[in-house]
This record gives sequence, C-alpha cells and structure tokens, in this order.
Amino acid sequence: MAEKFFIFDFDRVFVNADSLYELAKISLKKHPDRRKLTKEIKNLINAIRQYQSDPNSLLIEYIDITKPSRGDVDMLVSRLKKQITSSFLRNKEFFESFSERIYVVSDSFREYMEPVLEEFYIHETHIFGNKFVWESGKITGFDKGNPLSSKDGKLLVIKDLQLPGNVYLIGANLNDREAEKGGIVKKFFFFIENFPSGKLPVATITSIPSLDEFLFVNKLPMSISYPKNRIKVLLLEGIHRQAYERFREEGYSVEVTQSSLNEEELIERIKDVSILGIRSRTHITQKAIDNAQKLIAIGAFCIGTNQIDLDYCTDRGIAVFNAPFSNTRSVVELVVGEIIMLMRNVFEKSSKMHRGIWDKSAKGCREIRGKKLGIIGYGNIGSQLSVLAESMGMEVYFYDIQDKLPLGNAKKVDSIEELLKKVDVVSVHVDGRPANRNLISEREFGLMKKGVIFINTSRGFVVDIDALRKNLDSGKVKGAAVDVFPEEPKRNYEENFYTALRGYENVILTPHIGGSTEEAQRSIAEFVPEKIINYVNTGSTISSVNFPELALPELNDAHRLIHIHRNVPGVLARINSIFSKYNINIVGQYLKTNEKIGYVITDVSREYDKNLIKEIKSVPETIKFRVLY
Ligand code: NAI
Repeated sequence: MAEKFFIFDFDRVFVNADSLYELAKISLKKHPDRRKLTKEIKNLINAIRQYQSDPNSLLIEYIDITKPSRGDVDMLVSRLKKQITSSFLRNKEFFESFSERIYVVSDSFREYMEPVLEEFYIHETHIFGNKFVWESGKITGFDKGNPLSSKDGKLLVIKDLQLPGNVYLIGANLNDREAEKGGIVKKFFFFIENFPSGKLPVATITSIPSLDEFLFVNKLPMSISYPKNRIKVLLLEGIHRQAYERFREEGYSVEVTQSSLNEEELIERIKDVSILGIRSRTHITQKAIDNAQKLIAIGAFCIGTNQIDLDYCTDRGIAVFNAPFSNTRSVVELVVGEIIMLMRNVFEKSSKMHRGIWDKSAKGCREIRGKKLGIIGYGNIGSQLSVLAESMGMEVYFYDIQDKLPLGNAKKVDSIEELLKKVDVVSVHVDGRPANRNLISEREFGLMKKGVIFINTSRGFVVDIDALRKNLDSGKVKGAAVDVFPEEPKRNYEENFYTALRGYENVILTPHIGGSTEEAQRSIAEFVPEKIINYVNTGSTISSVNFPELALPELNDAHRLIHIHRNVPGVLARINSIFSKYNINIVGQYLKTNEKIGYVITDVSREYDKNLIKEIKSVPETIKFRVLY
C-alpha cells in the first residue's frame, strides 16, 4: 500500500489566526491612523489570499504600511502560540509518530512559523514558507525569489517535493483545491475548525471540522477514542451563550434553540444528539428518551430536575447534571433586600408616593440589626442567607430536618414550632419534596409572633396562600415577600397571572426571579458544561443527579473502559473474569452503585484484544459501555 504524506497549511489550520493580520495589528498598535490602516491591511490580505493581482506587489505594500520590527515578530510568536488550534494541541502524538511524513507548506513567513511549530516535532527541512528581508531590526522586504511569494507557489513547492506516496493536503484556503484538481495531491481537505460558522462554502469539497475527524476517517492514531466534532450538543430554552462557547471550544458540534420543545418536536430533534441542555420548561419523557439512541448526558441548566424522568434516564444509562449552587447567592441577596424593604415598609411608602402621599412617619419602621431571623431549610440557600444576615447584625435561628452544621453564630432549633415562636422574620428555603406541601399553613401562622415578616422563595406549594392572606388581613403578618406560586405560568410575559395576594401593598410579589440574575445564568452556563465535559472525557460523575458519584484521576498511558449496568449481584465478578480471560493488566478499577445501576471504571494498559470489548458489551446486565482514549 502506498505511504501517506500529510501537508498542512499554517494560518487557520495550525493556528486560529491570520498571522499577517495579527502582525499588522501589533505593528500599528501605536500608529495614530491605526483604524484606517488596519482596514486597508485587511483588504490587502484578502487580496493576497485570493491571489488577486500580483501577490508580490501586495506584500510590498503590506510591509510599507506596517514596517514590523523584530520585537513585533516576537510578540506575534507568543500570541500565535496561544492560538494553536485545539485539535492540533490534542494530537501531538500523531505529529511525533508521523514526523517523517508531515510537511508544512504555507505562504506565511518562516520567522514566526518555525517557533510556533517547534512543539510539533516537524523537521526544519519540512517547513516551507516565505522569508522576510531585514535591515537593522526592521522588516524591509521579503525574498522575492521564493516561489511561495508568488501565485501558485504552494503547488510548485508541493510538486517539487516529489513525495513517494499519497499526499493529503489540509488547508483553509479554497484555492488550494487546485492541487487536487491538478493531480499534485491525492486529496485536498478543507479545514473548518477555525471558521466560526463551521459551514462548508462549496458542497463538492471534503471539509474536516477538526484534526480528530481527519485522523478518525483516515484511520490514523488519535489521542481520543472518537472525534469530538461527532459529539452533537443541542441546547434549548435560550441557555446562556457561555455554554455554547464552552462546548464549541471543546470541539463538539453545537446547535442552539431559543424556545423549549414539546415531546413531538423533541423526538425529532434528539435522534442523533449526545448531549442535551434544557432549563425548566422542556419535559424529558420516556418516549423522548427512547428516541435518543446516542444520548449520554442531559444538562439541566437550572436547579430543579422534576421536568426530567430521572428514573428512566438512569435505566438507560443517561447521566443527568444540574447546577445546584449557581444561583444560591442571587436568591440570598433578594431575600436580604426584601427583609430590609419589609422592615421599613418601603413598598407601602413607595405606593403612597406614587399616589402623591407624603408619609414620613417612622411608625412600624425598624432596622434589621438585632432582629431574629428564622430560616426553615438550612441547605445551600438557607445556610448562605444565615451568613449574610448575621453579618448585617441579625440573630439567626434555623430548623432543618437533617442534622446541619451551624455557620457562624447561627443557632439550631429542634422543631419548626420552636422556631416560629421565637423569630421576627421567617424565611422558607426547603426543597420541593411532596411532604412539604402546605408546610406553612394556618397552624404555623398561628404560632408566629404578631408583626412577623414572612418570606417564601422556595416552592409555591409549600405555603397555604389563603392562610397567609388571612394572617395579612388580621395584621398578624406585618409584611410578606413571595417569589414562588402553587401555579406558575408556562410562558414568560403572561398577562393574566392571578394570585390571591394581589393588591396587598405590604406584600412584595415577584415572578420566580430569586435566581434570575445575569451572574447566576452565566455561572450555571459555566458549571453544567464543565461537569458534562468532565464526564465525557474522564467518566467522572461528580454532581450528577442520578448516577453514583465517582471522581476519577486523570489517566496516562492506559485505556479507560466505562461500564454501566443494572445493579444486580455478580456483574463486577463477571466483567473481571473476562479481563482475566484476556490476560488484561488492570491499572485501576473503581465501582460505585446506587439502588438502580452499577458504574464501573476499569483502566487497562495500552494493548488489548478487541474481542474483549465485544464480550464485555455482551454481559447481559449491560446498559451502556464506552471506551475512553
Ligand atoms: P437544598 O436542597 O440545598 O436545601 C434544602 C434544605 O431543606 C435541605 O437541607 C433539607 O434537609 C431541608 N428541608 C427539606 N424539607 C424540610 C422541612 N420540612 N423542614 C425543614 N427542613 C427541610 O436546596 P437549596 O438549593 O437551598 O434551595 C432551596 C429551595 O429554593 C428549593 O426549593 C429550590 O427549588 C428553591 N429555589 C428557588 C429559586 C428562586 O428563583 N426562587 C432559585 C433557586 C432555588
């Protein structure tokens, strides 16, 4: 079989940059006409790349305008090193083992290409590029005798190499397809990883979205088991752009939709999706999951996961992740603000002002300093509220059904009754378990002090609204803030929302916005992708809602096999007997189970018989099996 040779271009291939443009930006940084000149340079470079008129004279014009110095080129090198294409960074092993058959041919300049390519094991004699002419530390011209400074130079150089085998050219300039047409190379691959849209401009060209894909389709050794661009991510409900960016940066193919999808639409869209991102409005049903053959993980870009059939996801080996703490701080800040507003009657006074009434009296307006705050549910939010409230001088008491460590000087009380009798402000932060329905009803309001302030930002069904209304009417409750309701609209901007609390000036009503801040949305969009990417790359299930949690070490020089199975006795023994049948050296093994599934990670040394995989897959309890690197 003919040997394979690989020729890479430099700009937008090895590096995600157009180096001449970068160099111009550096050189013109302090120029008073910088904006105008940079624009001119952009047009010039486009013309050079398209081989419009004579590239030689265009280059002379470029150098005339920019006059780069040695320092500018050094700065360019350090910038380009930070812009090396991700899939190239991942696959250095390929460059090392194929160094004899890898070339770089580009109309860029050797002065900055060579230092950038240093870490890729490419022989100096395999790098072809233009050369600058220097005069006392400044670039004054370029080597006009070099074929790469003229039209068709690249093709000439490649032809002259006379490589004895099949030559693959990987470039980001469509003109280079001429090399394939002219029979100079076997195939031209149009490299699109560094094009923002990732779209193919000409249907007849073979495009490759990453080096992983190129290595995968050409059966060449690669650092990962599967090209990342083949991992399809679907993000619904207008998830913050940061999540899109993070998945793209990882090399996945990402599709984004602003709205939620109903079951039918979801079934259609989810078919070849590996990772699905939703918020609270998309319902993940059994039927949808049955139609998602490739789904390995779901990211709930919110706190709650009630909208997902978690049990069924577990049965199907789909890991679900959420963002349990990302909006904690936002909720706490809102509650702190509300305590102050209610203590000072701010909303009533504001309403009066809107009606033209000047009521400056201090009657019933109090500081929060020294007042007793009672927190019901001392989880993520409750405990953080405790810290902030205390730092503002409140005395904090809390009740939780679980044993919780008090933070600062907060005092734990043994019953909800004891708490309600003691405090001036009650704030509810319990979770949404069914037993918490009407946790605060007539009886509980009855136990509270006269003039209490009541706040609920947890779940709507936790509070009996009629009972709250009665106690507002009687004056027992001085003021309240309610952010969550037993029935909430499905869509934003609903105009006919009704609550029995309408019309009370001493009640702050908000449309479930406790966690709705830009910071929280961004933090969710950073947190969830990180957990999912970690799961895909290492098998780690930390902070998964439905999988047994395993934190796994990074792996060197071994394969990682991930087996998800129904949790019945004897599966691990069965898997291990297969390993021993194939004489496999197990480097490490980790097992964790929950009531439904077992999750086994086995790290094995590099070489193994491929039949091993088949046998492990055929263990009857297997739900999912995947090989990492
Ligand atoms: P978490 O799960 O960390 O804490 C809940 C705590 O409540 C746990 O410690 C649990 O043991 C305790 N608990 C449950 N039932 C209880 C009961 N009957 N009596 C006393 N303690 C009880 O939850 P996290 O993150 O602190 O969230 C708290 C609530 O806030 C949740 O209901 C969540 O859905 C809601 N939330 C509301 C937001 C909003 O925009 N308004 C945003 C984020 C969360």
